[in-house]
Amino acid sequence: MESSCDETAVAVVRDGREVLSNAIASQIDTHALYGGVVPEIASRMHVEAIDPLLDHALAEAGVALSDIDAVAVTYGPGLVGALLTGVSWAKALAYAMDRPIVPVNHIEGHVSANYIAHPDLEPPFVCLVASGGHSHILNVTHYGEYTLLGQTTDDAAGEAFDKVARVLDISYPGGPLLDKLADTGNDTAYKFPHPHTQGKYDFSFSGLKTAVINQAHNLRQQGIAIDAKNFAASFRRSVVDMLVDKTVAACKDTGARRVAVAGGVAANSLLRSELKRRGEKAGLEVYIPPKGLCTDNAAMIGSAGFYTLMAGGVAGLDLNAVPALRVLMSNDNISQQG
Ligand code: KG4
Ligand code: ZN
Repeated sequence: MESSCDETAVAVVRDGREVLSNAIASQIDTHALYGGVVPEIASRMHVEAIDPLLDHALAEAGVALSDIDAVAVTYGPGLVGALLTGVSWAKALAYAMDRPIVPVNHIEGHVSANYIAHPDLEPPFVCLVASGGHSHILNVTHYGEYTLLGQTTDDAAGEAFDKVARVLDISYPGGPLLDKLADTGNDTAYKFPHPHTQGKYDFSFSGLKTAVINQAHNLRQQGIAIDAKNFAASFRRSVVDMLVDKTVAACKDTGARRVAVAGGVAANSLLRSELKRRGEKAGLEVYIPPKGLCTDNAAMIGSAGFYTLMAGGVAGLDLNAVPALRVLMSNDNISQQG
């Protein structure tokens, strides 16, 4: 079960790899009225959507509730109210069914989309995770075990897409629409900076975003019309180059043979084609999930939950939402979580 942001989702997954059903109720149309996610509305809509979605997911999978062995749920990171609706619901369901409840980190869920999409993929591999709230390069050493190679020092990649889209008067969520607009533009028409970061594999999107937004305002003040297609294409190129440069460099330096990508921004058409092209040129096996498994869904949570359960990761009925949950790195101390 997934409810960390503006998608309510319930999936039935067998053995972490086989998706029997993957039901999603998107709230995008509602939040678009406000130009972004309104947390209180998101929580209320999760409550309304979740029971019918369970019925739908079971029917589509052709299984009964009694066939379910465990209930996996996203407990962070995300919006606290949104997470709480899912966590409370999952606890009630697991209690009523007398089944274990498995807590899943949303970012680990994104990584696990690759296990569903690529049945043969096994750790170790490097995974670029780029979503609306996170941008990491992770070394996936074993199932559920990670070391951090790089991360954003400020904004997430998806956040930058959404904010720049706003400047181009593209409605929420801007990322996918900006991507489409960029397909018909010239990506060398506008010049944007490539911000420097201290960490070799770190990203910085805030500087780029500000430079892009300032350039748009300056042009408008001078009465110069912005060519939205070219502007979108040039911005998309800058973000994608930054993501792919660092990811491929991290793979080369660590001797990785496989690279995967995950998170909503992994639905970006240029990121997909460039990672494939440049990754393969660097001698890497490149794993890219279908777009529907990149953006938020519950199948990926079911997959991550399976591997968590296999490792004995079961929660009690005191499980709480942890809005600022991080990916637990193999050299981390548990007490750092949240
Ligand atoms: O993973 P996700 O569905 O939710 C979070 O966990 O954040 O990612 C959503 C983010 C949004 O910022 C959205 O604009 C971005 O992913 N996104 C895209 C594309 N599709 C979704 N960004 C660029 N190009 C896309 N095609
Ligand atoms: Zn997500």
